[in-house]
Amino acid sequence: MSLPSDHPAIDVHTHKGKECPVAGKTHAWCPAQPGDSRSPCPALNTLANHGYIARDGKKLGLFDLVSGLKACYNLSTPLAVFLSIGGFVLLRRFSKLNLHDIGRHGRIEHDASLVHRDTPSGEQYAPIDINHELVEELVADAKTGDEDGPEGPEAGDQRSLMDASDVARARIRREKDSPPLDAVHAEIARGEMAIILGVWETKAGKKTGVPTEWIREWIGHERLPKDWAPTHVQGLKDVVKRAKSIRVEMDEQRLAEKAEKADVVDEAGQVELVVEKPKL
Ligand code: HEM
Repeated sequence: MSLPSDHPAIDVHTHKGKECPVAGKTHAWCPAQPGDSRSPCPALNTLANHGYIARDGKKLGLFDLVSGLKACYNLSTPLAVFLSIGGFVLLRRFSKLNLHDIGRHGRIEHDASLVHRDTPSGEQYAPIDINHELVEELVADAKTGDEDGPEGPEAGDQRSLMDASDVARARIRREKDSPPLDAVHAEIARGEMAIILGVWETKAGKKTGVPTEWIREWIGHERLPKDWAPTHVQGLKDVVKRAKSIRVEMDEQRLAEKAEKADVVDEAGQVELVVEKPKL
């Protein structure tokens, strides 16, 4: 993994358990070292990079994931248990696993990821390299929706917030470039971002969402935002609600795009967009 530009160089070293020769017993960030195991999931890689689970990303049991998710992201026990048991079941694994095992294509892992390329045909595991062009496209999707922000679309990242409609825009963009997702994987893809929208939600001006700089740091470098501290326990019901609103936003944006393409012109010669709001 490449180091963020503001990070001092780190000599190559070995990780054992949650400790790190550089970070010691703290939760300071240290990226994967040679031989460490990582997945296509930014949340789980971040847990390892901050020592909330074994820093080498290996031999992880159900309890390791549950306690790491709770300690790091302040997830409620039901949400942490649901994600971890759900993960093991979908992976069809009932013994300890390495982070790399989680990226088995077609189990939890799916095409049309936000910051990873699709799994090349014939490969069993998804790429774990972060594509930084895709990271910037994701951040740009949030800025597109920032017209109402305190300083308009040109506002700095700190003021630019990502919400469900921005995630919907990004998911539509990525899903256009990949083979269609089945219903289960489309739901998983929405759920992944729904969790973090809940964990980091904050307010700026009229908009509520997650600072895009936090998203860039986390999804681009698998590092926790420096200026974030938990404000609430993130629950399962809230995540379900957020995933639903991403789906509704996707339906609305797709309908609007379709209507725009059809170039519906009313008698007065004006473009008329009739978008029916899907029922929640
Ligand atoms: C705080 C909890 C979690 C959050 C916020 C989260 C978030 C995310 C996000 C945003 C992605 C998309 C990356 C991309 O599109 O490039 C992702 C991918 C993934 N996550 Fe997680 N995740 C969480 C927990 C878990 C757990 C517990 C598992 C499994 C045990 C898991 C497995 C995966 C896998 C396999 C992918 C790859 C999906 C893909 O193909 O893009 N995640 N996660």
